[in-house]
Amino acid sequence: MPLKEAPDAALVVSKCSICHSVDYIQMNAPFLQPAGWEAEVRKMVKVMGAPLDEAEFARVVDYLTHQYGSDQH
Ligand code: HEC
Repeated sequence: MPLKEAPDAALVVSKCSICHSVDYIQMNAPFLQPAGWEAEVRKMVKVMGAPLDEAEFARVVDYLTHQYGSDQH
C-alpha cells in the first residue's frame, strides 16, 4: 500500500524501504503514539543502522507523527 501523500513521503520511502517494506509503517501505526514514532525511528537509526542525518530524522518523524499518528485515526 503506498504511503499517504505529503511533501516528505518520498524521503520516508527512500530511507525506510532500504531494509524492509514501508508496510511496516502502516502495520505499526495503530500501536505507535507520536512519541512512539520518534523512538521507533531512533531505534532504526541507532540499532539497525538506518542512514538518516539529523535533518532527515526530524523530517521523517514529523511525517510519521502527522500522517500515521494515532490521533489521525
Ligand atoms: C538498516 C536497515 C533498516 C532501515 C534503513 C530501517 N529499518 Fe525498520 N526495521 C529494521 C529491522 C531489522 C526491523 C526488525 C523487524 C525485522 O526483522 O524484519 C525493523 C522493523 C521496523 C518496524 C516494526 C517494529 C519493530 O520495531 O520491529 C517499523 C515500524 C520500522 N522498522 C520502521 C522503520 C522506519 C520508519 C524507517 C525509516 C526511518 C526504517 N524502519 C528503516 C531495519 C531497518
